[in-house]
Amino acid sequence: DDDVCVASNMEGGKHLVLVASPFQGHMTPMLQLGSVLYSKGFSITIAHTKLNSPDHANHPEFLFLPLSDNFLAIDASANFTKFLELLNDNCRMQLQDRLTQKIQQANHQIVTIIHDNSMYFAEEVARNLNLPSIVLRSCSASYMPAFLALPKLHADGLLPVQDSMLQKLVQELYPLRYKDLPFNNTCTEISKEMLALSERIRTPSAIIWNTMDFLENSALTKLQQHYQIPIFAIGPLNETARCQSTSFLKEDTNCITWLDKQAPRSVIYVSLGSLATMDENELAETAWGLANSKQPFLWVVRPGSVKGSEWIEFLPYGFIEETRGRGLVLKWAPQKQVLAHTAVGGFWSHCGWNSTLESISQGVPMICQPFFGDQYVNSRYLSYVWRVGLELECLERRVIVTAIRRLLVDEEGEETRKQANNMKEKAKYCLCKGGSSFNSLNNLVEFILADCN
Ligand code: UDX
Repeated sequence: DDDVCVASNMEGGKHLVLVASPFQGHMTPMLQLGSVLYSKGFSITIAHTKLNSPDHANHPEFLFLPLSDNFLAIDASANFTKFLELLNDNCRMQLQDRLTQKIQQANHQIVTIIHDNSMYFAEEVARNLNLPSIVLRSCSASYMPAFLALPKLHADGLLPVQDSMLQKLVQELYPLRYKDLPFNNTCTEISKEMLALSERIRTPSAIIWNTMDFLENSALTKLQQHYQIPIFAIGPLNETARCQSTSFLKEDTNCITWLDKQAPRSVIYVSLGSLATMDENELAETAWGLANSKQPFLWVVRPGSVKGSEWIEFLPYGFIEETRGRGLVLKWAPQKQVLAHTAVGGFWSHCGWNSTLESISQGVPMICQPFFGDQYVNSRYLSYVWRVGLELECLERRVIVTAIRRLLVDEEGEETRKQANNMKEKAKYCLCKGGSSFNSLNNLVEFILADCN
C-alpha cells in the first residue's frame, strides 16, 4: 500500500528506544506507541524503571531494558517533583551505559530515543549519544495552554484560586474557568516546580501527542506555534495498538461475565484511575449515590485509594445488602473491555486522559469528577466543548443520583448519548486511511527515517 510508510527492514534494522515512566497513565500509551511503531517495521526496546515494570510476557515483540531506580513504591504523599528528579538522576547513567554498549555491539542501529515527558533524563542521554529525541505527551493538548499560562497567573497573584473566583472565566483561556485550571488548589510552589521540570526538556526534535486533530485542533495549533517543532497527533493509541494488558494491577475479568447479564446501556462504570484518592466520607457519599440511583453499577475501588484503609473496610454499613445483585465492587477492571461492553451506559471518571480517550473511542458518555492536574481541563472540555459528559458539581449522594439518572435514564441525557456516539464515529474516521491520525503516523515514520538516512 503506497500510502503506508514502513521502516524497511526488521533484521537488525532500525531500532527505537522508548523510555517509559512508572505511572500507569503514562506507561500504557508508551507501550501502545511501541506496538504501533513495531507494526510499522521498527524494532523496539522499552527502557523502564524496575518500579512498576511492565509485564514482559505480555509484549513478546519488544526487547526490554530495566533500569534500577532505587524506589520501592510511588509515595503519593511525598513531594512529587522531588520524586521525579531522583528517578531521573538514578536512571541517567544506566541508560547511557547500556545504550553505549548496544551501539558498540553494532547489532542495533538505534535511530531515535522516544521518551515520556517526565523522563527528561533520556533527552540528555540522546544528546550525549548524538541521537535525535522525540517526546511523547500522554496528556490532552488542551491542558498545555493552561499549564503554560501558570507563570503569568502566579505573577498576577491569581493562584491558588480564591473561592470567589472559581466560577469566573479565565481571560485568554476560554472556555476554562478558574476552577478548571491545573493546580488551582495546590500551593504555588508545586506548580512552579512542575513548570521548571517541564523546562528540563530542551531540544526534542518533535512531539508525539496522543490525541486527534478534530478534537483538539485549536490547542494543537497553539502548541505548534509555541514549540516550533513538528507535532504528530496520532491518537487514540488505545485503538491502534494491538497490545495485551498494560495494567500493573491484576485485571478482574469476572466482571465481564457479570456485565453479560445486565441490560444494554444500563450500567454505570465508576473508576478514578491509578492515582486519585478519596476519604471515608467521600467513599460513603459515592456508595449511597450509587445505591440510591437504582441503576446497576460496576465500581472500581483501587486498593489503597481510600485514605487510611487497605481496600473497602470503610464501605458504609448496609450498602452491600442494599445493592446485592445490582452492583459489583472490584479492585481493578479490564477497562477497555468494560467500556466496549454493550451493558455499559455511562462512565463516571476522574477524566485522566487515557480514560477520556478510551471512553470517546467507545462512545460512552461520562460523568466528570476531576481530582488534579490535567483532569480539570479535560473535564471542562468533555462537558462544555465536546458535550459528551456531565460535570459532577459536588460529591453528594443526591447530586450523584441526579447525574447518574440524567445520563442513563432521563430524556435529558439523550443529547449527551448521541454526541458520544458521534464522537466515536469521528475518532474511528481519524484512524482510517486518509484520516488525520493515520496521516500523522505515516508522517512520523517518515520523519524518523529521514533523520537517520
Ligand atoms: C495519570 C493522570 O491522572 C492523568 O490525568 C493523566 O492524563 C495521565 O496520567 P491516571 O490517573 O492513571 O493517569 O488516569 P488515566 O490517564 O485515565 O489512565 C488510567 C489507565 O488505567 C487507563 O488506561 C485505564 O484503562 C486503566 N484502568 C483504570 C484499568 O485498566 N482498570 C481500572 O480499573 C482502572
